[in-house]
Amino acid sequence: MKYYIKTFGCQMNFNDSERLGGILQSMGYEPAQSYEDADLILLNTCTIREKPDQKVYSHLGEYKKVKEKNPRALIGVCGCLAQRMGQELVQKAPMVDIMFSSFNMHQLPELIQQAQAGYRATAILEEPPQDEDKLWDYPTVRDNQFCAYVTVMKGCDKNCTYCVVPKTRGRQRSRSLESILSEVESLVKDGVKEVHLLGQNVTAWGQDIGMSFAELIYRVAQVDGVERIRFTTGHPKDLTEEMVRAMAEIPQVCEHIHLPVQAGSNRVLKLMDRGYTKEEYLEKIQMLREYIPNMTFSTDIIVGFPTETEEDFEHTLDVLKRVEFEQVFSFKYSPRPDTPAYSMEGQVPDEVKTERMRRLLELQKSIISKKARLYQGTVQEVLFESYQEGKLLGRTRTNRWVSVEGGEELLGKLVRVKITKPHLYSMEGELIF
Ligand code: 5AD
Ligand code: SF4
Repeated sequence: MKYYIKTFGCQMNFNDSERLGGILQSMGYEPAQSYEDADLILLNTCTIREKPDQKVYSHLGEYKKVKEKNPRALIGVCGCLAQRMGQELVQKAPMVDIMFSSFNMHQLPELIQQAQAGYRATAILEEPPQDEDKLWDYPTVRDNQFCAYVTVMKGCDKNCTYCVVPKTRGRQRSRSLESILSEVESLVKDGVKEVHLLGQNVTAWGQDIGMSFAELIYRVAQVDGVERIRFTTGHPKDLTEEMVRAMAEIPQVCEHIHLPVQAGSNRVLKLMDRGYTKEEYLEKIQMLREYIPNMTFSTDIIVGFPTETEEDFEHTLDVLKRVEFEQVFSFKYSPRPDTPAYSMEGQVPDEVKTERMRRLLELQKSIISKKARLYQGTVQEVLFESYQEGKLLGRTRTNRWVSVEGGEELLGKLVRVKITKPHLYSMEGELIF
C-alpha cells in the first residue's frame, strides 16, 4: 500500500505531514512517487487566505480521477481548511473518504480502517481531545536528513483580528519539555544537526505550563549533537529580554529571527489587536541588535488591512527602511469568515492593495540588493543540506542559501565558506580549508 501527501500552508503544516507520514509508515504504508500510484492520498490544507482554499478543490478534482482507475484508493483531507469547513467540505467534495481535524491526527489509523470498511470517516473535533499527545509517539518522515522541524507548541491564544488560526488550531498548548527533548535526542541520533522549533507562536512556549521559551532553548542546546537552533514564529509581544539574552548566550542559536510586524501604523496595529506599537516593535529589534550584533531579520506584512490609508501604509514602508529585513513575506489582506476584521467597514479595494504591494516589493528589492552586497568577501558558516552534480547547497546562520563546488562528503557538515557572488536571494561561495 502506498501513500501520497500534498501539503499546503506553513511549516507547522509541513511538520504535521511529516508526522502523518510516520503514522502511515508505522501502518506498513510506503511513500508513492506520485498521487497517481497511491492507494491513499492525503491533502493537508491551509485556510490562512482565500487562495489556498481554492487550490484544494482543483486538487481534489485531479485526485478523483485516480479513483476511477483504482476504486479502492482513498482520499483524505485534513488540516486547517478541513477544520474550518467541517461537513460543508464533505458535501462540496463527494470524493472525500476521510476527513479529520488538526486535533486528532493520531486517530488516522482508525479512520483509515473505517473508510476501508466502506464508511465515510469524518471526525472534525471542536476541541483538542485528552489524548492528543499520542501524536508524539510517532516519528516524523523527513526529506531533509540534517535539518529537522520539531513542533513544540500548538494553537494560539492571541486574537489578531484578521486571523483564522485560533479557530483552526485551538488554544495554546505547550508540548512538554520531556517530550520535546526526547524527540530532539532521537533526531540527533539520526544525524540531524539543525533543530528548528515550531509553533504558531513559539515564543509563548511554556506560559501554560509554568516555564519559558528561554529555558526551552537552553535545554535543547544541552542535547549533545545539536549544532544549530532556529525557531518560528515569534510574536513581538512575547519576546522578552530574558529570551534575547538566552539567544545571545547560546552558541547554537542562529543569528536570524522571523518576527512578523504585519503593519507599521499604530492605528492599524491596534485594529489588528497585535498588542504593540511601531515604536515598541522597533525597540525589540534594537534590543536584539544590541545583544546580537550581526542579527538578521525577516517578517510578515499584511497590505491593505481594512481602513488602511496611504499614511498608514507609509509607516509600513518606514519599518522596512529602518529594520532592513533580509526577507519580507507580504500578503494582501484577505477577509476570513468568522474573524472580526471580516465585517469591519472600510475594506480596501483590490487595486489599491495591488499598488501598495508593488511599492512594497520594489522598496524591499532595493533593500535586499544593498544587504546582499554586504556579504561579498565575508566568511560564513554553512551547513550543507543537499548535493547535486558537484554542487553543495546549504544555509548560513543568517538563513541565506549558499551554493559551492565540493564533494558529497561535506553533506551535514558545518563548513566555512567565502562568499564570492552574493545574488539577491542566494549566494555563491568557495570552501575555505
Ligand atoms: N490576510 C492576509 N494575510 C494573512 N496572514 C494571516 N491572516 C491573513 C489574512 N487574513 C498572514 C500574516 C501571518 C502570515 C502567516 O499570514 O502575515 O503572519
Ligand atoms: Fe495555514 Fe495558518 Fe493553518 Fe498554517 S496554521 S496551515 S498558515 S491556516
